[in-house]
Amino acid sequence: MRRLLPEPAAGADPFADPYDAYGDQPGLRLGMVMSVDGSVTDAEGWTDRLGGEADFRVFRTLRALTDAILVGAGTVRTGRLGPARLRGDLRARRGRPPAPTVVVSRSLDLDWTLPLFTEAETPTIVVTSRSGRRRAPAHVQVVAEGGDDVDLPAAVRALHDDLGYEHLLCEGGPALATALIRASLVDELCLSIAPTLLGGPRHTRLLGALDAEVPLRPTALYLDEGVLFARYRLRT
Ligand SMILES: NC(=O)c1ccc[n+]([C@@H]2O[C@H](COP(=O)([O-])OP(=O)(O)OC[C@H]3O[C@@H](n4cnc5c(N)ncnc54)[C@H](OP(=O)(O)O)[C@@H]3O)[C@@H](O)[C@H]2O)c1
Repeated sequence: MRRLLPEPAAGADPFADPYDAYGDQPGLRLGMVMSVDGSVTDAEGWTDRLGGEADFRVFRTLRALTDAILVGAGTVRTGRLGPARLRGDLRARRGRPPAPTVVVSRSLDLDWTLPLFTEAETPTIVVTSRSGRRRAPAHVQVVAEGGDDVDLPAAVRALHDDLGYEHLLCEGGPALATALIRASLVDELCLSIAPTLLGGPRHTRLLGALDAEVPLRPTALYLDEGVLFARYRLRT
């Protein structure tokens, strides 16, 4: 991984290793990959073929660094999101088991037999409303905030204050990412830009509608195997 910005001093770049490059975590980091023409899904409607091995390295690193991984129920319903695992080298650096996946859902219309819910080394948690919590099976830990709808700011606070998750990583999808940005909960966007134009009918945009323009402050840019890794701050 080559750092382009901030321009490295002459000699070895101390941030060439993603674990060091992304080590300064904010409270809530949004990490997603998209094609240059703005699609977050590949031709199969998933993300695996977008960023290749370079993006997987950063993806795995962001997971290894964080305290909890937030995902929207829509991404879980693709059936392709497995339980968080840690490779040996990352486990050694992290020094603790994988971060739990935290699924955000109003409906709790989820397949509870998925390995995400049955095989996770660190059990998967669900964030929903107080009225929704009765739809979760007894063995799943639930964070319930808000009456009939999920109160996202309260849920993020509860993850921090009650469960001790200081650093959160949201991996999308677009609907959850949009809701978090609209609620001003995202501190940093880590965007991997895959060197491809996908076009095609199955083009899923990075975000939905926002209430207002959100200015971004670029803080770093890296290049690895043609993939650009951009970091932006949302709140200062
Ligand atoms: N390129 C990438 O980095 C990336 C990352 C992740 C996913 N994806 C792709 O994105 C697609 C899925 O994205 P998506 O936008 O359809 O779904 P999503 O954001 O993963 O999940 C949407 C669901 O999350 C819950 N949700 C969202 N906002 C909420 C809020 N404010 N309060 C409570 N619950 C909320 C709702 O669940 P309920 O319906 O259960 O109430 C909603 O239907 C998939 O194709 C996946 O492959 C791409």
